[in-house]
Amino acid sequence: MPKISIIGAGMTGATTAHWLAERELGDLVLVDVVEGLPQGKGLDMLQAMPIIARDVDIIGSNDHSATKGSDIVILTAGLPRKPGMSRDDLLSANAEIVGKAAVETFKLSPDAIFIVLTNPLDTMAYLTMKLTGLPRTRVVGQAGVLDSARMRAFVAKETGISVENVSCYVLGGHGDEMVPLTRHSNVAGIPLTEYLSADKLEAIVNRTRKGGGEIVNLLKTGSAYYAPSAAVAQMTEAILKDRNLVIPCSAYMQGEYGLNDMFFGVPVVLNRQGMSRIIEYKLSGDEQALFDKSAAAVKDTHQALKKLVKI
Ligand SMILES: NC(=O)c1ccc[n+]([C@@H]2O[C@H](COP(=O)([O-])OP(=O)(O)OC[C@H]3O[C@@H](n4cnc5c(N)ncnc54)[C@H](O)[C@@H]3O)[C@@H](O)[C@H]2O)c1
Repeated sequence: MPKISIIGAGMTGATTAHWLAERELGDLVLVDVVEGLPQGKGLDMLQAMPIIARDVDIIGSNDHSATKGSDIVILTAGLPRKPGMSRDDLLSANAEIVGKAAVETFKLSPDAIFIVLTNPLDTMAYLTMKLTGLPRTRVVGQAGVLDSARMRAFVAKETGISVENVSCYVLGGHGDEMVPLTRHSNVAGIPLTEYLSADKLEAIVNRTRKGGGEIVNLLKTGSAYYAPSAAVAQMTEAILKDRNLVIPCSAYMQGEYGLNDMFFGVPVVLNRQGMSRIIEYKLSGDEQALFDKSAAAVKDTHQALKKLVKI
C-alpha cells in the first residue's frame, strides 16, 4: 500500500483521511500539534474499516517522524478563516506553520509528492516548493477542483441535470478574483453561455466566487471541509493511480498563460509523476483580462510572503 501522510488533523485533514480510507488508496498517517487529536481520530477511523470493508492502516502522531517514507504528503495544517476574514489574512500565521511542516516532512520523505491545501493556497504552495527545492511536478495546490465543483453543483441544481453531465472550469487564484470560464463550461457538451440565461449564469458565477465565504458565514467558527477534502482525495487518486486526469489545480507557472514564478490555478494533467503538464486554453480578451487581474492578486500575496520569509 502507498503511504499517505496528512499534516493537520483538523476538519479538512481528518475528512481527507476519511475520503481516502473509503477509496482504499493507501495507509494513512495523521499528524497534528494537538496532543491526542490525531491519535484519537486515527484510532476512531481505523475502527470503521471493518464496517466499510477496507484494509487501511491509520495512525495518528504528534511527531513528523511517523511520516517517514511517504508517497504523498498533504499539507492542511494552519488556521482557517473566520467570518470577515479573507484568505490572505491568514498569510503570516500559516506561512510559519506550513513552512516548518514542509521542511520537516520533506527531509523524511524526499520522494513524496506534496499536495497543499492551507490558505492562502497559491502562496502556501509557492512557499512549499521554494523551501523544499522540489521540482514543480511534485508540488500541487488544491483550489480549482473545489471551485469548479461548487460551480458544477450550482449548475446541476439550476438545470436539474446530473452533476455527471456538468463540466465547469474555474481557474485563476484561489480568492475572490478566481476565473469561472463559462465559455469552456458545459451541460452535456452545450456551453453554459448557451444553456443558461445571462442573469442565471451571472448569479452562479458570483455565488461560485464567494462559495467559500458563504460557508464561513454559515459555520462561523471555521471553513468548508467536506468538498475541499473530497477534492484532495480526487487529486491523490489521480496521482497514485496514474490516471492522467485533467483537473484545475494550482501549479507553478513557467511561461504558461504568460505567467512566471508563481502558483496559479490552471488545468493540469495529474499522474504518478504529479503535475506532469499544464494545459493551455486559448483565452478571449475578456477572459485574459480576468486572468491578469487574478494573477496580480496572487502576485501581491507572493510579494507579501517574501517580506516575511527568505525564499
Ligand atoms: N485550498 C482550499 O480550497 C481550502 C479549503 C478549505 C480549507 N482550506 C485551508 O486549510 C487549512 C485548514 O483548515 P481546517 O478547516 O482543517 O482547519 P482546522 O483548524 O480544523 O485544522 C487545522 C489543524 O492544523 C493543526 N496545526 C496547526 N499547526 C500545526 C503544525 N505545526 N503541525 C501540524 N498541525 C498543525 C491544528 O491543530 C488544527 O487541528 C486552513 O488554512 C484553511 O483556510 C483550504
